[in-house]
Amino acid sequence: MSRPRVLVMHPFLEPGPTMLAEAAEVERYPEGMPLEQEAIRRAAEGCSGILSQVKDPIGEQVLSLPGLSVVSNVAVGFENIDVAAATRHGVMVTNTPGVLNETTADFAFTLLLAAARRVPEGDRLVRSGGWTGWEIDQLLGQDPNGATLGVVGFGRIGRSVARRGRGFGMRIIYSDAVRAEAEVERELEARWMELPALLEEADFVSLHVPGGPDTRHLIGSPELARMKPTAGLVNTSRGPVVEEAALVEALRERRSFAAALDVFEHEPQVSRALRELDNVVLAPHIASASERTRARMSEMAATNLLAGLRGERPPNLLNPDVLTRA
Ligand code: DGY
Repeated sequence: MSRPRVLVMHPFLEPGPTMLAEAAEVERYPEGMPLEQEAIRRAAEGCSGILSQVKDPIGEQVLSLPGLSVVSNVAVGFENIDVAAATRHGVMVTNTPGVLNETTADFAFTLLLAAARRVPEGDRLVRSGGWTGWEIDQLLGQDPNGATLGVVGFGRIGRSVARRGRGFGMRIIYSDAVRAEAEVERELEARWMELPALLEEADFVSLHVPGGPDTRHLIGSPELARMKPTAGLVNTSRGPVVEEAALVEALRERRSFAAALDVFEHEPQVSRALRELDNVVLAPHIASASERTRARMSEMAATNLLAGLRGERPPNLLNPDVLTRA
């Protein structure tokens, strides 16, 4: 029996590549080819599966390819894939939830601490050779200990961040369309609030909502204006959740103490205005980038893809309706 063909959009870590090579004919997306639907469609012709990442636009044009049966995203986010179109065309879509929660929460907290205590500014000062010694008022930051942490989006990652906050003696407030179970609120001593109230009360705000049109510019000028001038904003969710131009203004005018961003509105472009600010910590979308977690994501994505190719239900199927459609 001939082996199925799969298109792997980008190099990815072991064990996924070996798992795929054992069961399928693997084609690599040509290096340097633009990440555009038309080009992806041409590259995927004749393939039954695609292994994609969040930077790959997978819409109607790609999903309507005859013979395509599964798209496996190596990410928990999947706003790059038109899931409704996939269901219409009978294509299964999968992601890699769960395995990256703790690593992402670690990084969100790293950013929070770095912004609060101005770590990159201190690093730059020492590297510049211009540090002249201890000063009583040098690089004064804000204390996370004893502060209030506002978690926006109280899913798996948001809760893991709250847990870290508890370890730092923070009070936890959260906002989410769905209120957490009483048991979770008790464990984390977390208080639910509407977003505007949370923004007014929090000393640090950490964003953990999914991307997409519903959350675009969830944090814009009016929301930033509600926040305390001493507050820090952390975004490890998706760039467009924050209106970047409004954030730049707030940081520049010191209406916001600091921000720490792992994701950007027009990724991978980061505006010069943002890059020029001292009171923002910038990271290149690496919240889940630990060796162990990326290897787990790789294994999970390959497992999902291979299950779909065998005609089985992949463990992390996002559109189960695809299995029952007429
Ligand atoms: C995810 O898993 O969604 C990360 O942001 C990587 O894209």
